[in-house]
Amino acid sequence: MLLFASSIDVVVAYKETGNRSNNVVEISKPMVKVVVVNPSTSAQRKARSWSTSRGRMFTFSSGPSREGKYLAYNGNTLVTAPYGDHWRNLRKICLLGVLSTNCLRESVGIRSDEVKQMLSKIYKCSSVGYGKVEMKSIFRDLVFNVLLRMLAGKRYFGEGVKNIEEAKRFTDIIRDVLEVATASNPADFLPVMRWIDYGGYIKRIKGLAKKSDDFLQGLIDEQRKGLSNTEDEETMISRLLSLQKSDPEYYTDETIKGLILVLLVAGTDTTSATMEWTMSLLLNNPNVMDKVQSEIDSQVGQDNLINELDIPRLPYLQNVILETLRMFPAVPLLLPHMSSRECQIGGFDVPRGTMLLVNAWAIHRDPNVWDEPTEFKPERFQNMDFDQYTLLPFGTGRRGCPGATLGNRIISLALGSLIQCYYWKRISDEEVDMTEGTGLNMPKAQPLEAVCKARTILSKIL
Ligand code: HEM
Repeated sequence: MLLFASSIDVVVAYKETGNRSNNVVEISKPMVKVVVVNPSTSAQRKARSWSTSRGRMFTFSSGPSREGKYLAYNGNTLVTAPYGDHWRNLRKICLLGVLSTNCLRESVGIRSDEVKQMLSKIYKCSSVGYGKVEMKSIFRDLVFNVLLRMLAGKRYFGEGVKNIEEAKRFTDIIRDVLEVATASNPADFLPVMRWIDYGGYIKRIKGLAKKSDDFLQGLIDEQRKGLSNTEDEETMISRLLSLQKSDPEYYTDETIKGLILVLLVAGTDTTSATMEWTMSLLLNNPNVMDKVQSEIDSQVGQDNLINELDIPRLPYLQNVILETLRMFPAVPLLLPHMSSRECQIGGFDVPRGTMLLVNAWAIHRDPNVWDEPTEFKPERFQNMDFDQYTLLPFGTGRRGCPGATLGNRIISLALGSLIQCYYWKRISDEEVDMTEGTGLNMPKAQPLEAVCKARTILSKIL
């Protein structure tokens, strides 16, 4: 009761409930039941059975929310669809179109090209001595461009964008979609608010949904008519359009549009925020930064830019990223799961249609599992065994994140390259502020700024 009575903000839940002694916290709302699972081996393992019966952002027992209805194709997208045949099909299409090992191999050039563009942008302000860089927008532009090129063959962010008008239209739409999608929504917890169009909200959402749908349809039509002026030949749209020819019922335009939208929403801020948290931790722990740089220098050297094949040879960098995901999981309460039947969790009788929030943030800081949990210690992963219930930044089970491998490749490549090519320091003697902001993805409250100086390798590779 306490939790949402004063603030109907699901995102505060991870800290407030994580500090309680209870392993499972029940929150009663007028028409929606919510249970938060905190650190407890038994509670976590019991929660496992829920992964088979799950709804998602925008999808609740009483049907999709207003945002899901209009923006996410009536809740029929991969992220929002309840577990069942339709969700299984969408997941398969997503893998076939963009996230399979094969697709990741074919798109390796896109990621290395975008990382190079990022390095050259930073070089402009740091080729002579230390220059100041705003990291948040750099990381976001990088991830957006990588995903957009893999999905649609377009790059709309940062420098060197070809079609400025089109890019502006898209960036306006996606900024508004992300704002709606990652904000917590009072109407999910207080359904009576669904009947009230406070401040013309529904009208705004409908307008945004129409703009977004028109834009996405335009991308598909361009590629269908062969008119597209894309950066890359093989994209998710082109793959799914060839499959559409033989099976139009299955690979519909609506399915493709829904996939583009959810992959951008689910993949962008999660990946870029993790890069920002990692870099912040490294700037506050220069000895760890030096160790990462030494590992890269010894394994890759200063002649060639790091590539994705080098990543397995950089275990310390991997441990740094894991430790960041432990301390600052980009989705601290994972995504809501729903009970499709009555069950028991941690001694609670949980009725059908209850929302389950798994408190990954608190599980990752459980002192019974983690030694000095609030300390940044990448070394802990050298000798530690952890399982999918003690470290779960990507969730677990059937509804676990399908983009984990892609996310990890982008983060490792980008951070590895930045550390290989530049010396990094904080903008002042003061530590980087690690305060967490609000939002469904846990952003940094203050965007990260840093100073950097080019290393000799840059003159060889740019
Ligand atoms: C560091 C980066 C990322 C993190 C931390 C992350 C985290 C998560 C988490 C916690 C979930 C929910 C799992 C659950 O509730 O059990 C999820 C789901 C999902 N993620 Fe990610 N994610 C990341 C990157 C990506 C990327 C790059 C993509 C694709 C481009 C992606 C696509 C998705 C999709 C489509 C789902 C929903 C899957 C379903 O419901 O079947 N994610 N992610």
